[in-house]
Amino acid sequence: METKQFTTDEIGEAAELIRQGELIAFPTETVYGLGANALDEQAVKQVYTVKGRPSDNPLIVHVSDFEMVTQYVTDFPKHTKSLVDAFWPGPLTLIFDVKPTTFSTTVTGGLNTVAFRMPNNLKTIELIKEAHVPLVGPSANTSGKPSPTTAKHVYHDLHGKIAGILDDGPTQIGVESTVLDLTTKNGVPVVLRPGAITKEQLEQVVGKVTLDQHLITEKEAPKAPGMKYKHYSPDVPVWIIDGDKDVFDKAINWAKSKNQRIGLFTSDRITSAFSTEVTAIFSFGEDTVEQGTKLLFAGLRSLDEQNIDVIFAQAFPESELGIAYMNRLKKAANQKILKIDSIFE
Ligand code: TXA
Ligand code: MG
Repeated sequence: METKQFTTDEIGEAAELIRQGELIAFPTETVYGLGANALDEQAVKQVYTVKGRPSDNPLIVHVSDFEMVTQYVTDFPKHTKSLVDAFWPGPLTLIFDVKPTTFSTTVTGGLNTVAFRMPNNLKTIELIKEAHVPLVGPSANTSGKPSPTTAKHVYHDLHGKIAGILDDGPTQIGVESTVLDLTTKNGVPVVLRPGAITKEQLEQVVGKVTLDQHLITEKEAPKAPGMKYKHYSPDVPVWIIDGDKDVFDKAINWAKSKNQRIGLFTSDRITSAFSTEVTAIFSFGEDTVEQGTKLLFAGLRSLDEQNIDVIFAQAFPESELGIAYMNRLKKAANQKILKIDSIFE
């Protein structure tokens, strides 16, 4: 199958293919999604096949407006309207109880709930409107690999396997949406996956919110299926460096003593200090968690293609957006973190 790159003028053609059960990758503000008609079970099954993903993972249903959700949900929890007003379109996924039999178990993973999101991307909104159906959209990458933040990443992983890609340049945020469960028994919303909409921002709108740490560490059986699988991993091993230049210095010397070729994923500030000592560098520029998050997956993908033995990646404090960043990086690193006094003997 030839994978076509669709321009803005060709959104109608892409929408027609969606209606015919084909898969089209679409841009969002977070990562690129692998789109299929959420009401077409065969098409959704095909999403799992081309990703090579285990099929007990519930999918997010992408809509073009809140109105679309009302076709599938009868009783909305009390905070729904204020959350939608505050954060849609945007990187917030909301979980509701759905009417029985509206979506196949391929979409729901066998749960009574479904996750909905309205992405903040005009082309994708137009694609959904023209297709007249909601779209499932897991990240458009081979399962286990870093999520795609450019159309090129999607093409690299999935060309020949999907009908097309709608290109809208690099994504702005770089990690997947915050997933918020509004169906909890005690009425307190729970963040199941941290993203760019932070717990603090949510609390300003709805009061108390909790963060399900179990899903973050992956140490225990997860509530949402799919969180248990290895994620975001390059083939080259990743270590998180939690500290300033002195810790990088020790880590680099340690790797060199073992004849390892090193790749760095760091800000310019760190990169500039070590540029002559390592084999490969992907700098994310300005030393902010926003920049690190935006380029994390692109950086891991790029370093993975170079001739290196280890990737050292910069940590950020685990607060606000840093929670989402570290959540992805810890999975990529399989939880391996070097701190100043940890392992360098
Ligand atoms: O930013 C994003 O959300 C991207 C872009 C493409 O929109 N999409 C994305 O979709 O990450 P997906 O389908 O891979 O997200 C699935 C995750 C599951 O692993 C689970 O954490 C959560 O969303 N999820 C979905 N439905 C759920 C449900 N009914 N209950 C609990 N968690 C659910
Ligand atoms: Mg994914």
